[in-house]
Amino acid sequence: MRSATLPVAAALAVALLAACSSKPRDKAAGAGARATADGGAIDAAPRRADGTVALPPAPPVPATPPGLPPLPGDVAPTPAEVALGELLFHEPKLGADGTTACASCHDPARGLSGTEPHPATAAGRPSLRRAPALVNLAWATELGWDGRGAGLAGWLPSHARGQLDRTVDDIALKLGASPTYRAHLARASAGRSDRDTVAAALAAYVVTRFAGGSPWDAHEAGTAGAVGDDVVAGYQLFTGKALCGSCHPPPLYTDHDFHRLGLIASPDDGRGRVDPAQAGAFKTPGLRGAAARARFFHDGSAASLDAAIDWHLAGGRGQGADPSVIDPGLSPVTLTTSERAQLGAFVAALTAGAAPARPTLPSDLP
Ligand code: HEC
Ligand code: HEC
Repeated sequence: MRSATLPVAAALAVALLAACSSKPRDKAAGAGARATADGGAIDAAPRRADGTVALPPAPPVPATPPGLPPLPGDVAPTPAEVALGELLFHEPKLGADGTTACASCHDPARGLSGTEPHPATAAGRPSLRRAPALVNLAWATELGWDGRGAGLAGWLPSHARGQLDRTVDDIALKLGASPTYRAHLARASAGRSDRDTVAAALAAYVVTRFAGGSPWDAHEAGTAGAVGDDVVAGYQLFTGKALCGSCHPPPLYTDHDFHRLGLIASPDDGRGRVDPAQAGAFKTPGLRGAAARARFFHDGSAASLDAAIDWHLAGGRGQGADPSVIDPGLSPVTLTTSERAQLGAFVAALTAGAAPARPTLPSDLP
């Protein structure tokens, strides 16, 4: 074994040394490559003679994957907005503490959702609830677990102020110090102020986070062998005996409505903030992409997808909630062991492959 691994290790060491000693690309060649402060990565974007950054064309807007409805007509993000929005979403320097990004709470490795019941904002205050998965929001009209937000244009500026502890105006000012971000702002602006471009870019990135193209979608499109028989049986249970389909109907697997599931351990009025008659109700999350999440429910009280499913099957009776205030659509359901496994297999088949790679952030933002 040793003799087999040693040459590999030696080759690796040589490769690493070569990478460390390779000089930044020639500035005169127009590549604009610049060693970063840590001497590691180099800027991807070339610089013009006047020092401004020349960006390559933005990649196309992500296509809506199979299984999802057509995009609503008023959702029309541009490639330049999405490209800037992606950087902003991952940029820890947007937080007033210099470390909190949107992605800190809406974790791309966990289906753009959070794990903490009350994640700390950049100001160190606890958030009200767990960060929901930011997927398929192009079809959502009411934002927040209680639906108090009436669209991204209104939601994002106040959300950024609350969670990042910075106004969108201050974010735009800060970005102005970075030649790379300045080039992005110019490319995406379409005549708008920097502040409005920042807000539009964040919204464009958020509305193009799609969860679709799952194994179940391939099955529905007629691909033989895309899922096993257990998944097909699970779909029958989901839409039938297990009573899931009434609140989580395809194709988005949410009714965009609010229900009480008996989650009363962490007191929260939920929808009651908007409509007192619906106190304790929360928005039905879409189940596409759910298998990528690590915590479930608005309070993060379910530590696994199975625990979340079992909570429903028990009729939400787990925390001593008064059954008369639990949504009548949520009745206790008894499944056999194999039926329970089939139901779980179906829900898991609504999630497509791996998480996307994180972008390389500009190194010139102070
Ligand atoms: C400190 C954690 C935190 C940070 C940082 C954060 N969020 Fe959130 N986000 C949350 C929480 C918690 C909620 C749910 C709020 C509620 O229901 O009251 C939420 C909700 C949302 C929603 C509504 C989703 C839905 O399904 O209704 C959007 C959109 C959103 N965030 C986008 C962003 C963007 C874009 C950023 C960066 C500018 C960001 N968030 C930064 C925690 C965070
Ligand atoms: C009466 C409506 C209703 C029915 C029926 C229902 N759900 Fe839900 N489901 C919800 C609501 C509302 C939530 C969010 C509750 C919360 O966070 O307070 C939810 C949350 C979930 C979650 C957690 C998602 C996340 O991101 O946190 C999963 C998984 C889930 N449901 C699966 C199912 C399955 C499987 C069934 C059938 C056994 C089912 N649901 C039946 C309304 C319903």
